[in-house]
Amino acid sequence: MKKQIITITGAAGNIAYSLIFRILAGNIFDQDTKIQLNLLDISAALPILMGVKLEIEDCAFRQLDSVIITDKPEEAFADSDFILLVGAKPRSKGMQRADLLLDNANIFSAQGNIINENAKKTTKIIVVGNPANTNALIIEKNTKNIPTENISSLMRLDQNRAKSILSIKTNCRVEQISQLIVWGNHSATQYPDINNALINNNNEKILSLSDQWILDEFIPRVQNRGAEIIEHRGKSSAASAASAIHDHVYALVNGSSDWESMGIMSSNSYDIDDQIFFSYPLNIVNDEIKIIDAVNLSESSITYIKNTEKELISERDIIKDLL
Ligand code: NAD
Ligand code: LMR
Repeated sequence: MKKQIITITGAAGNIAYSLIFRILAGNIFDQDTKIQLNLLDISAALPILMGVKLEIEDCAFRQLDSVIITDKPEEAFADSDFILLVGAKPRSKGMQRADLLLDNANIFSAQGNIINENAKKTTKIIVVGNPANTNALIIEKNTKNIPTENISSLMRLDQNRAKSILSIKTNCRVEQISQLIVWGNHSATQYPDINNALINNNNEKILSLSDQWILDEFIPRVQNRGAEIIEHRGKSSAASAASAIHDHVYALVNGSSDWESMGIMSSNSYDIDDQIFFSYPLNIVNDEIKIIDAVNLSESSITYIKNTEKELISERDIIKDLL
């Protein structure tokens, strides 16, 4: 029997309540692979975690091997194949994600150290708690035993949002759209880049979109979609975030069929400052994440990209003592 151990932090929270069931009902691994879930939350949330565990059991998922619920990070991270770092404070109305930086940074530096001591070197870490890119940097700096390539931050929610908004505008299905990517930070400075996008492998429909729609509607809508959800729900996105985490892990395990967007450690590619987690256009092949080189960038695209890079550098400055 093959087995994968998946750790989810913040497992009593909103995202986890969708994510757990999406993973267990999903198709990330072949059907012979069993999944052990290690669910971590703070001590006060243990009664909720017990309820979640009972509900998981009640689903009788055929891929489920076992569930561990715990408030001990050492136990949660031990032998894990995938660590999904969701546990962190979400923003509320009127806040920017970067406003969470000082509140959440200590969670990630503490957990980074524990992961470093307890997890397998091959574990893959996906950072979701906001601000996700800079928290990923904190994790990377505190997990010297884990290769940097194993750490990524979630941008797939932004990419899915961009695809869906474009599909509604052009009256096509999401699976007909390809090469639509998001650069930079998971924040209002991110750059959803439509310039290389194709519909049915053809750019005709994209070229027919007006600059006014792209610049005044599409880009700001994607950039501010998280706030739009909070405005309506009174809480931050949860089901769509969980679905995007599923898609991100699916791509890591099964490879990419389209250009992927993930935050990864920059190393001067596209002239971006190194040592920030920056979302690039990526291919994932044979377990390797590769930046797609030589994507065409207009002057206006470069301005957007420089702006989101600048924000990531300033976030890094704020938490420099934790690096
Ligand atoms: P939530 O408040 O519903 O749940 C967070 C959970 O984390 C809570 O159960 C809390 O007890 C737990 N927690 C807090 N500190 C912890 C610690 N040290 N160890 C383990 N668990 C801990 O929040 P949510 O809606 O599930 O969102 C979680 C995070 O994900 C937020 O920071 C939110 O902004 C972020 N988010 C990111 C994206 C993205 O695309 N990157 C999308 C949506 C939400
Ligand atoms: C999102 O994009 O929905 C999340 O990052 C939550 C938020 O604060 O916007």
